[in-house]
Amino acid sequence: MTETFSDQIRTATWTDHEEAEADGYLKALMEGRLSREGYGEMVAQHYFAYLALEAASRHMTGDPVGRGFVFPELYRVPALERDLRVLYGAAWRDRIRPSKPTLTYVARINQVGERAGGYIAHHYTRYLGDLSGGQFIRQGLQKTYGFTPGEGGVDFYVFDEVGSLPRFKTEYRRRLDGIAVDEAEKRRIIREVKLAYLLNMEVLGELDRVLVPARGSASRAS
Ligand code: HEM
Repeated sequence: MTETFSDQIRTATWTDHEEAEADGYLKALMEGRLSREGYGEMVAQHYFAYLALEAASRHMTGDPVGRGFVFPELYRVPALERDLRVLYGAAWRDRIRPSKPTLTYVARINQVGERAGGYIAHHYTRYLGDLSGGQFIRQGLQKTYGFTPGEGGVDFYVFDEVGSLPRFKTEYRRRLDGIAVDEAEKRRIIREVKLAYLLNMEVLGELDRVLVPARGSASRAS
């Protein structure tokens, strides 16, 4: 039996995923070794990336292939704004800046997000991750910082409008499997997913560099 496209993407990029999962910043976050501010830095970087992703999404509504991957129920910007308000206060907009790797990531989303294949690659890498590993991250964050879902802080990981996450992911993979593009374009999508992982790693690497200087001895979150 030939492998479905969703399986092909997963198989071809799982080593990239393993590297992302082993990232030092995420490890420190999951082990409760970062301050609230340290966590807030990642939320701020997410904000700039999702502004770009969701702008690309709105442009896709008229694209015959891309529109199958427009899901307003996934949009994260409103949740990120609630989280940022809790983490940085009412003046949050003045207190956050995109890092250099985030600017590079955003530029790439803007560059390739105008065509369906590029858009889908970046959409898949982030949202399917948020719906999967993101749910473990959320549990860790709730435990470390005591956030209550719906009250800001960790709302980025709460997908209230999606319903059953496993069912949604199954439908998402079904759409990937039925995508009306040729093999060359499928290969380009897989390449772009690998790049999306790399760009995410660069964003996390910068957070690691800035926030986890003394590995293993960073103070516990209070
Ligand atoms: C603490 C870090 C992470 C953990 C524990 C984690 C864990 C997981 C797990 C368990 C799955 C499989 C879920 C399933 O089969 O339904 C998954 C899927 C996925 N994750 Fe992660 N992940 C992490 C970080 C990331 C990062 C940083 C990204 C991207 C930037 C990412 C992107 C994805 C994607 C795209 C999938 C879907 C793969 C597929 O089934 O096609 N993950 N993750």
